[in-house]
Amino acid sequence: MQGMIYRNFGNTDIKPSQLGFGLMRLPLRIEFKPEMIDRREARRMLHYAIEHGVNYLDTAYPYHSGTSEEFLGKALTKGYKGKVYVATKLPTWFVKKKSDPQKFFNEQLKRLKTDCIDIYALHGLGKNTWETVKKFDLLSFMDKMQKKGKIHFPGFSFHDSLPLFKEIVDAYPWTFCMIHLNYVDEHYQAGVKGLEYAYSKGLAVIVMEPLRGGKLSHNVPKEILDIIKKSGRKQTPAEFALRWVLNKPEVSLLLSGMSTTDHVKENVAFACHEHAGSLTREELKLYKKAKQFYRSRMKVNCTLCDYCIPCTQKIPISFIFNMYNDIYIYNALKQSQWMYKVFIKPENHADQCIECGKCEERCPQKIPISEALKKAHKILN
Ligand SMILES: NC(=O)c1ccc[n+]([C@@H]2O[C@H](COP(=O)([O-])OP(=O)(O)OC[C@H]3O[C@@H](n4cnc5c(N)ncnc54)[C@H](OP(=O)(O)O)[C@@H]3O)[C@@H](O)[C@H]2O)c1
Repeated sequence: MQGMIYRNFGNTDIKPSQLGFGLMRLPLRIEFKPEMIDRREARRMLHYAIEHGVNYLDTAYPYHSGTSEEFLGKALTKGYKGKVYVATKLPTWFVKKKSDPQKFFNEQLKRLKTDCIDIYALHGLGKNTWETVKKFDLLSFMDKMQKKGKIHFPGFSFHDSLPLFKEIVDAYPWTFCMIHLNYVDEHYQAGVKGLEYAYSKGLAVIVMEPLRGGKLSHNVPKEILDIIKKSGRKQTPAEFALRWVLNKPEVSLLLSGMSTTDHVKENVAFACHEHAGSLTREELKLYKKAKQFYRSRMKVNCTLCDYCIPCTQKIPISFIFNMYNDIYIYNALKQSQWMYKVFIKPENHADQCIECGKCEERCPQKIPISEALKKAHKILN
């Protein structure tokens, strides 16, 4: 195997591996119990990745119901600790009073068995959490931690619209940002435009969900497999999707939430090749076709921006539309029906909509939400 490829990290002198390990989807001992990490297997996967050049590890306070950081702290035994950069995040939506950030930070240091954190992000910034940042002056907190040498590089992860993304990029001397990006969601949330904007401002850009959480690598429709074949490369759907992200030189690294040893081996081997600027014009056309296929199968053009919430009836609108779309994109009728039953209480099911219309006023996509909810309920129930 060739060696791992490293990229630039904004204006810093650190060189992250183009593949980062996301510790949000570790293998479990008991299905649907995120706190029950299969620690032996997860440690083996992590050590394999580090031994093969992965030097960027991404965790967060809430991952695996609060056990991901603690797992990482224990897994990074002597030989491994000095070889990696550890990134974690302040759970902004849990901050309810001025003393909370420091409290979470101290807890994170303990969990990670360290006295400083290399890479620290304000987690999940969007319309509401940005208000929290302002209300509790979290930017001053980041300043303070940096001056004390408790964090080396400040940044944020983002899930909202492009204008807000730009506003946040310009609001603070961040080192990095994390955005959702893959070939289907090229123009979703910050999207490619956000990537280019942040890069032009000197930020390192980290890509999350490059496989749409596994949706671009599992149960891939035949139509997409045929498109991938036309590329002339021997590649799996996962490689096809990762290649699109790493083709972009503005990306510092992508994070993959690997959950099996096979994922780690495949993704590490893939990241041992140079991909920046490697796609031909013809190939880029294939990605557009694949994206169009996925998009055309979507029943509701919901971009999960959640501008529609809060719903009067506490209906998780975007979550339901996501499951509804999945039925048609992935032939996932049973899976979506199961999720609908298990994850949403009957009192918050789509049929509880009272057609108050508040969500429709706020929806940037102008989706006829009440009507779409009715259709979704009919098939999901
Ligand atoms: N800051 C934030 O707000 C935020 C939000 C989301 C994610 N993140 C971070 O970003 C990381 C990456 O996001 P993600 O986990 O959603 O990434 P992703 O790469 O889109 O999805 C990961 C899933 O893809 C599948 N997969 C990975 N490698 C594969 C391979 N070689 N072949 C086939 N399937 C493969 C696995 O699905 P199965 O497990 O189903 O097999 C895996 O769980 C997270 O782990 C987390 O650290 C941060």
